[in-house]
Amino acid sequence: MKEIKIESTISIYDTINELPEEVSILMEEAINIRKKAYAPYSSFLVGVALFLDNGKIITGNNQENASYPSGLCAERTAVYYAGSQYPEAKILKMVITAGALNKITTQPIPPCGACRQAIAEYEIKQKSPIEIYFSGEKGQIFKSNSLKNLLPFMFDNSEL
Ligand code: THU
Repeated sequence: MKEIKIESTISIYDTINELPEEVSILMEEAINIRKKAYAPYSSFLVGVALFLDNGKIITGNNQENASYPSGLCAERTAVYYAGSQYPEAKILKMVITAGALNKITTQPIPPCGACRQAIAEYEIKQKSPIEIYFSGEKGQIFKSNSLKNLLPFMFDNSEL
């Protein structure tokens, strides 16, 4: 029997003011779209801004449904829109902000497992990593240089 160790590196920004200029612009877009999320069931609003290599900024938020599983997370709303509108473009950066309506979210909120799998597909498709920044409403912002850091042993198309 052998053991292997898997390590991930995450960069931590203490406040929005520490973010690089272009990322703080994306954060502003993500916050604006978060406020327009349709989340009447969870009251948990998530906003995402993507920066593509064609210069476009794509935004998305969570869309809920009375039949709960029919709703969609903000991350997938955004990446699927980008993939459908700009199939040739690469996603360079993704900025996520999340917050509950009834309290202040102070912890960085990472993409859920299903969204990680969806984002992984785009990294594989475009053959380059996506920088992912995730945050709450207040407090620290975490950054991963690639989705791979967030999803060890990801399922991919290599054996299909
Ligand atoms: N949600 C997202 O939009 N992204 C995530 O990565 C986690 C969860 C949404 C789904 C649902 O509308 C609400 O947050 C509560 O789970």
